[in-house]
Amino acid sequence: MTYNKKSVEDIDVAGKKVLVRCDFNVPVKDGVITDDKRIVGAMKTIEYLVAQGAKVILCSHMGRPHNVLDEKLKLDKKEIKKIEALPAEEQEAAKAAALEKGAKDITKLSLGIVADDLTKKGIPVTLAADVIGPDAQAKAAALKDGEVMLLENVRFHAAEEKNDPEFAKALASLAEIYVNDAFGTAHRAHGSTAGVADYLPAVCGYLIQKEIDVMGKALDDPKRPFVAILGGAKVSDKIGVINNLIEKVDTLIIGGGMAYTFFRALGNPIGTSICEDDKLELALELLAKAKDKGVNFLLPVDNVIAREYKEDATFMRIYSDSIPDGWMGLDIGEKTQELYSKSIAGAGTVVWNGPMGVSEWDNFAGGTRAVAKAVAESGAISIIGGGDSAAAVEQLGYADKMTHISTGGGASLEFLEGLELPGIACLLDK
Ligand code: 3PG
Repeated sequence: MTYNKKSVEDIDVAGKKVLVRCDFNVPVKDGVITDDKRIVGAMKTIEYLVAQGAKVILCSHMGRPHNVLDEKLKLDKKEIKKIEALPAEEQEAAKAAALEKGAKDITKLSLGIVADDLTKKGIPVTLAADVIGPDAQAKAAALKDGEVMLLENVRFHAAEEKNDPEFAKALASLAEIYVNDAFGTAHRAHGSTAGVADYLPAVCGYLIQKEIDVMGKALDDPKRPFVAILGGAKVSDKIGVINNLIEKVDTLIIGGGMAYTFFRALGNPIGTSICEDDKLELALELLAKAKDKGVNFLLPVDNVIAREYKEDATFMRIYSDSIPDGWMGLDIGEKTQELYSKSIAGAGTVVWNGPMGVSEWDNFAGGTRAVAKAVAESGAISIIGGGDSAAAVEQLGYADKMTHISTGGGASLEFLEGLELPGIACLLDK
């Protein structure tokens, strides 16, 4: 998908109220933001708007909260089903407990922590107590040129995820211009990511612009050889990406649990390794397609295997054609690390999404570490999809060696899959 969208620089924002959708869905542990990449990523656009004298109204979601700001707090279908399965006399109490738990989301998933963080980073931000309610309206009306406010979590309203036009209209009525800079949520057609563009001139911010420029160029006009590295547990999560990338890459490297579905499809013993038995035919089709297109399709030649799926399980290395009964593959082996590193070393462009093994456990993180090192040292244009591979690169201190680390997990996968992202498609073309 190629996008050529207007950006903040293509529209006059001076003195105007500008609604900016960011992705401030950051991880928080014990009241501390543990990864502020998405906040830092949004700052360039905010600082530009402030410097231009715009009145900046930021908005975002955080987590998947209950609709606590709606008139009546509702339970979702899953919770209702669970409650209905209980004996009749227990249902009232269970319902009250679920509603109370939902009400706690207002403190747990409030964007106050983000407003404080931006303020500490040098952008003073006032938090509104609601999204489209009286406090947001009053604070938006009182904004002066160059001031910044943040609305509460847009997902405190059920209408956000439903992309309800009335909600989108109310949100739009706070501003005169809409800027989408939430790449991480661009694959969602929600009120604040797409619906609002029906009511305001809509452009992208610097973060979205960079994401689509770098990834778009890699897909459309890559420096060759173009190597894609795909990991993760399931083939089914990556079918679309594999399918699309086979059309474009010179080498496709497979790691992680999904390798074992390919092995079973090829008739190799896989012991108790994770496998999607309903995807064996598909795995063979993908291998045939790669052969047909002349793509070098690399599967692990050896593996680190264990008897149990446990952090401290006893492990050993074994070739891919001889995994014994009762053992499971949890990482790629040393020979595979060498083979993959060699391929990566010669690349012009590398795209990487998904770990090579159970990278959160040290004994099974060697493959992911080796790939991260090889990508960092390759000198290639390197693009890291969000999620576990991005976390690995950061933990290992290679982040500044990569050309681009995407702020979107699901969004970058859908982009690599060639799918249209509603949060970008809705913006004005150049
Ligand atoms: C993400 O973290 O991938 C984005 O913020 C989107 O969140 P969601 O998966 O809850 O829509």
